[in-house]
Amino acid sequence: MKLFEVYPLLDVAIEKAMGSYVWDDAGQKYLDLYGGHAVISIGHTHPHYVKRIEDQLHKIGFYSNSVKIPIQEMLAEKLGKLSGKEDYHLFLCNSGAEANENALKLASFYNGRKKIIAFKKAFHGRTSLAVAATDNPAIQAPVNETDNIIFLPFNDEEALEAAFKNHEISSVIIEGIQGVGGINVASNAFLQLIRKLCDTHNAVFIADSVQCGYGRSGKFYAHDFAGVAADIYSMAKGMGNGFPVAGIAVAPKFKAKHFMLGTTFGGNHLACAAALAVLEVMEEEQLMSNATRIGEYLMDALKQLPNIMEVRGRGLMIGIQLPEAFSHVKKDLLLKHHIFTGEAKPNVIRLLPALNIGITEADIFLEAIKKELQA
Ligand SMILES: Cc1ncc(COP(=O)(O)O)c(C=O)c1O
Repeated sequence: MKLFEVYPLLDVAIEKAMGSYVWDDAGQKYLDLYGGHAVISIGHTHPHYVKRIEDQLHKIGFYSNSVKIPIQEMLAEKLGKLSGKEDYHLFLCNSGAEANENALKLASFYNGRKKIIAFKKAFHGRTSLAVAATDNPAIQAPVNETDNIIFLPFNDEEALEAAFKNHEISSVIIEGIQGVGGINVASNAFLQLIRKLCDTHNAVFIADSVQCGYGRSGKFYAHDFAGVAADIYSMAKGMGNGFPVAGIAVAPKFKAKHFMLGTTFGGNHLACAAALAVLEVMEEEQLMSNATRIGEYLMDALKQLPNIMEVRGRGLMIGIQLPEAFSHVKKDLLLKHHIFTGEAKPNVIRLLPALNIGITEADIFLEAIKKELQA
């Protein structure tokens, strides 16, 4: 059997990794500022993470959600504490799309409505509702088509007010910082207005924190900058540092009913051990402060460089908007300087490194991009 080729692949096979560095099968070392698409939060193969997963595997890796799994409660407690949402409840699943799917469904169970507001350039995943709320017709199959999604311009307060006037809204789903869309930061005023309108109309505010969450922005959820709480936070990526684990944190107003949500693999022992290890390292090594510190250092330095149109983002979620003439820079960073970065169309370099990168790694990158931008 051959692989079903849905990914355009770089000609690199990564064989080992440590911290913010990876090595290919020829022994070439790379600096990883992409984090495998915002997934590596505490650095590759962090010793505490490896040990916790290994220890758990020797005890039990999986049992179904038909029995008590105390490590789920430990995870919920720690997550509540670190995210400042101690009175929320945690439902565990396996991927970002699944988290958003459950969030949208829970909102609809809650208020009995169907209409969802999503935004231009949003990405929420590839399952049926999540992909319908994603602003990319190329990845929606005919079966995903629905008139339940209303797409509005991002950060457009007037359009938002009008949509609430004209429709019975079930939920509003928004990334605190759009990732795939090119690192666009939701304004505080916009998030505050979403909160206000959802309160007035009994709609549900869903904070998609799959990419911008888990400390990447310098706060636990990027939406926290606005000083308002969402009703549901979806999370995945950085949550397991590469182990597939995801979840939704649900405000106390939602009442759980048996079987309203469910999954076979979600919240298994091994996934919880990985997720707990991540939170323990985040707390112990103060990674959110580090994300703020190194993020500011990088953004300040990038703003001094020539030929950059705009630098956007927060913490260690940074977008570098380049002119068309410099569209080759991402490729050159990889091929000439051995630095992995992410991208967004058109011509945005996306930095999504581990939250524990240091000034040394930031400087290696700044030196390399400076060379390319001056060339
Ligand atoms: C903001 C956001 N939401 C949801 C998803 C979907 O997550 P997953 O690929 O784990 O299903 C992604 C993935 O890139 C994302 O960036």
